[in-house]
Amino acid sequence: MTTTDRSARRGPRRGPRGRRGLAAILAFALPALAAAPPSVGAEEPASQVETRQRLMVSLIRAAKVPRAMVAGERPHDPAAVREAMAQVIEATRVLPMLFGDDAGAASATRASAASHRDDFLAGFPALEREAVAMVFAAEKGPEALAFAYDEFIHVCDSCHESFRQD
Ligand code: HEC
Repeated sequence: MTTTDRSARRGPRRGPRGRRGLAAILAFALPALAAAPPSVGAEEPASQVETRQRLMVSLIRAAKVPRAMVAGERPHDPAAVREAMAQVIEATRVLPMLFGDDAGAASATRASAASHRDDFLAGFPALEREAVAMVFAAEKGPEALAFAYDEFIHVCDSCHESFRQD
């Protein structure tokens, strides 16, 4: 049983306070969030909404690494792709736990993410698969990386199209 399964099972029994507590722990535990600016003077821990938004920003930061290579703006570097995708993979394991409580900050998540929860959540393992595929593609060379990068970004775009408001 994965951490995700356990939390999903525990989820419904937790009150809002418990959920915020979980988000706060994740916010401090995740290296992917290290670059996020600290909320100076904030007494409340980051809400689920804020935590997932920060993780989404970490996804876009990670995606810039292969994108720059595909665009010819930096040399092909499989090790850098591996490092960036490790952050993505870590985020895809945590993000599914952060869409249970819309309190705490303005959210751009559509109501359909709750009414079509299985379809919505399937986007995260899909992203993880493409992140792993990109690591192998980068080992093969620039052409394979370019193809894998397109597949990867397609997962972001298709989830946003269905489940994120503009
Ligand atoms: C399974 C669905 C899903 C996938 C996959 C996904 N996102 Fe998102 N993303 C969302 C939702 C929903 C929001 C709105 C979050 C909110 O405000 O509640 C969002 C918000 C964002 C934001 C705005 C964060 C902010 O500061 O408000 C960025 C940037 C982003 N995503 C980037 C990405 C990138 C890059 C990828 C792919 C590498 C990706 N996302 C993959 C669902 C997804």
